[in-house]
Amino acid sequence: MDVLEAINTRRSIRKFTGEVISDDQIKTILKAGFQAPSAHNREPREFVVVRDKEALEEIANFHQYAKMLPKAGCGIVVCGDETLQPEFGFLVSDCCASIENMLLAAHGIGLGAVWCGVYPKEELMKPMSELLNLPDHIIPIGLVVVGMKEEDKQPKDRYNESKIHYDKW
Ligand SMILES: Cc1cc2nc3c(=O)[nH]c(=O)nc-3n(C[C@H](O)[C@H](O)[C@H](O)COP(=O)(O)O)c2cc1C
Repeated sequence: MDVLEAINTRRSIRKFTGEVISDDQIKTILKAGFQAPSAHNREPREFVVVRDKEALEEIANFHQYAKMLPKAGCGIVVCGDETLQPEFGFLVSDCCASIENMLLAAHGIGLGAVWCGVYPKEELMKPMSELLNLPDHIIPIGLVVVGMKEEDKQPKDRYNESKIHYDKW
């Protein structure tokens, strides 16, 4: 899929068939995550691929907006390493750039995906860190839920001239 087509047609998919996605598909998505730009090129990103049924259920239990996760069958938690990027804003930015790349990659290979926020919600970060055994310097930023689509969504055109400012506000 052409890059602009992917950007313009990507939507959050929250209904999944339950079919398992392949290791190759997961690798394609992870590679896209690694390819994202990184502040000072520090690449502080770490990825935890969660496929264990019980772990998926547990995340869905504490994350009220990730109830679709067990049916999707795969969640990739994108984390930032504070020892590699101590500037926290940059850490978050790097992880978010990876997440968007991963959503586009998933869409590009015909899978459905949705970004579920973790940072800055303490009540989500804490149980996520505990469940995944994350060391203290590894901060969970977001969760990419990915699986075989059970719904298709129409693209939305959100281009809005009134929000564009040339040279000055
Ligand atoms: C930081 C962030 C956190 C989000 N968290 C959730 C979430 O927890 N659960 C969910 O279903 N969607 C979540 N979304 C997806 C948005 O709801 C979605 O992108 C938005 O409604 C626009 O729809 P679209 O992605 O189909 O274009 C999140 C998106 C972002 C950027």
